[in-house]
Amino acid sequence: MKIDILSIENKLKKILTVARFRHSLNTRDVAVKLALKYGVDVNKALVAGLLHDCAKESKEQIKLDKASVVLHAFTGRKLAQEYFGIDDLEILQAIESHVMGNENMSLLDKIVFVSDFIEKDRNFKGLDEIRILAEQDLDAVFKVVLMQKIKYLLDYNKVICEDIIKTWNALIVKNL
Ligand SMILES: [Fe+2]
Ligand SMILES: [Fe+2]
Repeated sequence: MKIDILSIENKLKKILTVARFRHSLNTRDVAVKLALKYGVDVNKALVAGLLHDCAKESKEQIKLDKASVVLHAFTGRKLAQEYFGIDDLEILQAIESHVMGNENMSLLDKIVFVSDFIEKDRNFKGLDEIRILAEQDLDAVFKVVLMQKIKYLLDYNKVICEDIIKTWNALIVKNL
């Protein structure tokens, strides 16, 4: 499939808020950098990074479902497929897995998951160390980001979807 990146970017810009579009470009940039570093298809990382939040804060999202932190990963996959014409299953899986991961994370999945968390506009304590780790060890940084997300849910009394627990358990069992 030939992906027209410029037309994707233009369409995305029209449906997202300014801030969400900027975050998408930032995430794309980190994803491309990590893809080069870890030998992952750069075009797939670029498209998945760009479109990972295509259903977040967009008008299209409202048509598909109510705004939800968790759901935008699933509606994002659907939107990437139906509205942006993406049929590459690896890209679609990376979009779907960017919030809670999955039990069998590909390198591309890990890259998008991490890039979303460390892009240049993010700012929280300990982020510099995570960014450095991202340059050194993709598996290690993926684990740290996953831990941070689960800790955040615990710290802020949020519901923890079982999908993220499954991702964690799969990671631990794999490394036993
Ligand atoms: Fe997201
Ligand atoms: Fe995001």
